[in-house]
Amino acid sequence: MDIVVSGIRSTGNLHLGNYFGALKNFVKMQNENKCFFFIADYHSLTTHPTPKELHSIVKNVLVEYLASGIDPEISTIYIQSNVPEVTELYFLLNINAYLGELERCTSFKEKARSLPNNINAGLLTYPVLMAADILIHKANKVPVGKDQEQHLEMTRQFGNRFNRMYNCQYFTEPVAYNFGEALIKIPGLDGNGKMGKSEGEGNAIFLSDPPDVIRKKVMRAVTDSGPKVMNQPKPEIIENLFTILNAVSTPDTVEHFDALYNNCQIRYSDLKKQLAEDIIAYTEPIRNRINEISKDDEYLRKVVNMGTEKARESASKTVREVRQIMGFRDF
Ligand code: TRP
Repeated sequence: MDIVVSGIRSTGNLHLGNYFGALKNFVKMQNENKCFFFIADYHSLTTHPTPKELHSIVKNVLVEYLASGIDPEISTIYIQSNVPEVTELYFLLNINAYLGELERCTSFKEKARSLPNNINAGLLTYPVLMAADILIHKANKVPVGKDQEQHLEMTRQFGNRFNRMYNCQYFTEPVAYNFGEALIKIPGLDGNGKMGKSEGEGNAIFLSDPPDVIRKKVMRAVTDSGPKVMNQPKPEIIENLFTILNAVSTPDTVEHFDALYNNCQIRYSDLKKQLAEDIIAYTEPIRNRINEISKDDEYLRKVVNMGTEKARESASKTVREVRQIMGFRDF
């Protein structure tokens, strides 16, 4: 059985893109592997240091994970900052992480460019903290997208370097968890590539969006003036709507609108109305659970305590062994 670790950036509400691109598959993954899911609240501090929002953002992400089907009895779901062993390992790994390699990291360079007034050491050592997150449970699989491949490579580097430095075979190499065909990339509604909360207002449909908001966003989605030639290929903005339709509707519905498009008889307002209703129906059980769970503080406390306990059990074992290897001894 594989040990899987996945960290969730806690920068806001989850959207349909997160659901189809990750969450939906996590729910399946948890039955076949030993999974650790955590909310990376320390990581979010490197760019979002807002005390007023910190707790509510963490709570939202936790609620939305649970509502999407992550089962706290099967998986270990926890909050990064509740497991102090992670920061301990982070420091111990920092000792052997070099300035040059950290400065060369693409995500660091991008953040440094976009936030020139806040190039803090936390940003620089972001990959070390991420390595600690992964190595702390000795994970061998990490479900990451392309943008995180370099961080995963650095994790292998830090683990291997530790093994060399201390002449041991302690850490194993984590590799990317491959979902293969199952991953669906959900495009945004504004015709600009993928769905994301940092894109324009209305680009993303959030799991917590009420039906009327979903309707409004979908009806405002960008379209063109319609096909003029039978069976012409769809331009990207139209293909995007079909991609979302494909994810949430029945094959019959997709076929129906596809045929209308090919006959040049499609009315985009009809397509959008159907799309909105199908998104609403698809997300309804998740939305209902979000509303239920977010009111149930007692349940959330139970989940968090259980997750912290399970995560610390695994994490403290690793830190104990790492300290031993590094030469720390009890008096
Ligand atoms: N860096 C990841 C992201 O931005 C989040 C993350 C932090 C993570 N620690 C992790 C992902 C450990 C996987 C494993 O998406």
